[in-house]
Amino acid sequence: MQLKPIQDQVAVVVGATSGIGRATALQFAEQGAKVVVSGRSETKLASLMDEMRSLPGEATPIVAEVADFNQVKAIADKAIDVYGRIDTWVHTPATAVFAPFEQTTPDEFKRIVEVSLLGQAYGAMAALPHLKQGGGALIHISSVEGTRALPLQSAYGASKHGIEGFLEALRVELKHEKAPVSVTSIRPAVINTPFWNNGLTRLGVQPAGPPPYYDPRLVADAVLYTATHPTRDFIVGDAGRAVDLIQRISPALMDTILLQIGFPMQDSRRPKSEDDPNNLYESVSDPKHNRIDGDYSHLVAPSVLDWVDKNPMLKWGALVSLAAIFALTQGIREGS
Ligand SMILES: NC(=O)c1ccc[n+]([C@@H]2O[C@H](COP(=O)([O-])OP(=O)(O)OC[C@H]3O[C@@H](n4cnc5c(N)ncnc54)[C@H](OP(=O)(O)O)[C@@H]3O)[C@@H](O)[C@H]2O)c1
Repeated sequence: MQLKPIQDQVAVVVGATSGIGRATALQFAEQGAKVVVSGRSETKLASLMDEMRSLPGEATPIVAEVADFNQVKAIADKAIDVYGRIDTWVHTPATAVFAPFEQTTPDEFKRIVEVSLLGQAYGAMAALPHLKQGGGALIHISSVEGTRALPLQSAYGASKHGIEGFLEALRVELKHEKAPVSVTSIRPAVINTPFWNNGLTRLGVQPAGPPPYYDPRLVADAVLYTATHPTRDFIVGDAGRAVDLIQRISPALMDTILLQIGFPMQDSRRPKSEDDPNNLYESVSDPKHNRIDGDYSHLVAPSVLDWVDKNPMLKWGALVSLAAIFALTQGIREGS
C-alpha cells in the first residue's frame, strides 16, 4: 500500500489542542500538509491556529466533542468541504480519573469509556468511508495501557484495551475486502503532556506517570512515520517496549512489579484536590494548558528503539549481524 508524502496529504488531527495532538498537528503543518484540527476548546484551537499560521501547511479548525458521533462526523465533513478528501486521520482524545476502581463512580467510568473508547470508534467510523475512497492511514493514539493497565486508572486502561480490540477486528476486515487503508495503533509509554494535569484526581495529588517520561514530539514523529509507512502498531518509548515484553512473558510478574512501583510512582507529591479543574466533561480553560509539554520535562529521557523501528533495514541488518556473530562463535567453539 502506497501512502502519500506528508506535503501532499490532507490530515485530520482530532484532539489537536494540547499534548501529542498539538505536536502532531504542528509537525504536519511544518512539513506542508493541509491539516484539519479539532478539540473542544475554541480558545485553545485559536492559540493553535496562531502558531500554525507561520508554517508552510494550511490549517482549518473545528470545535467537536468526541463522545458525540455527529460532532465527530462533522470533522470529516469539514475536511471534505474544505479540502475534498482525507488522506490521514489521527485520533488522540482520551481522559482519565486517577482513583482506585472502588472510588470511581459509574458515571465517571461511563464518561471515560465514551470519550476514550467510543470517541475513537466514532473517529474510525467517520473517517473510513473517505479513507477507503482514495486510500490512506487511520491512526489511533492508544497506549501501552492497551496491553497493560496501571492501577488507579481502571476506566482509562479498559478503554485502551477496547481500542486494541476493535482495531484488531477492523484491520482484518479491511484486509479481507482489500481496502487501501493502513490501520495503526500508536502505543506511547509515559509522555510529558498536560494529560497529567487534565485528569480528575482522587489521589490527593496531581497524578504522575511511572518515569521515564518521553517527549510528545517523539509520538508525533511516530504518527508522521506511520502516515507514510503502513505500520500495524508502534510503541513509543523504550520503557513501553520493556513493559510490553514483560507483560507478554508473564502478566503475574508485571502484577508484582506494579504492586511495588505502580502506586508510589503515580504520586507527584504536588497536592491537588478532586475539585480542581479537570477535563472529564469539558476542556480545562486555563491557557497554560494550550501547550505540548507537561510539567515533567526534568524527567524526560531519550528513546533509542523508536529510531530503530523507523529504520527497519537497519533493524534487520543488526539482527542478521547478531545471528551471524552467534553462528560464527558457535562454529569456533565447536571447532576448538
Ligand atoms: N501523556 C501520556 O503519558 C500518554 C501515554 C500514553 C498514551 N497517551 C494518549 O495520548 C493521547 C493524547 O493525550 P495527551 O497526553 O496529548 O493528553 P492531553 O494533553 O490531555 O490532550 C488531550 C487532547 O484531547 C482533547 N480532548 C479531550 N477530551 C475530549 C473530548 N471529550 N472531546 C474532544 N476532544 C477532547 C483535548 O482537547 P480539549 O481540551 O480542547 O477538549 C486535547 O486536545 C490520549 O489518547 C492519551 O491516552 C498519553
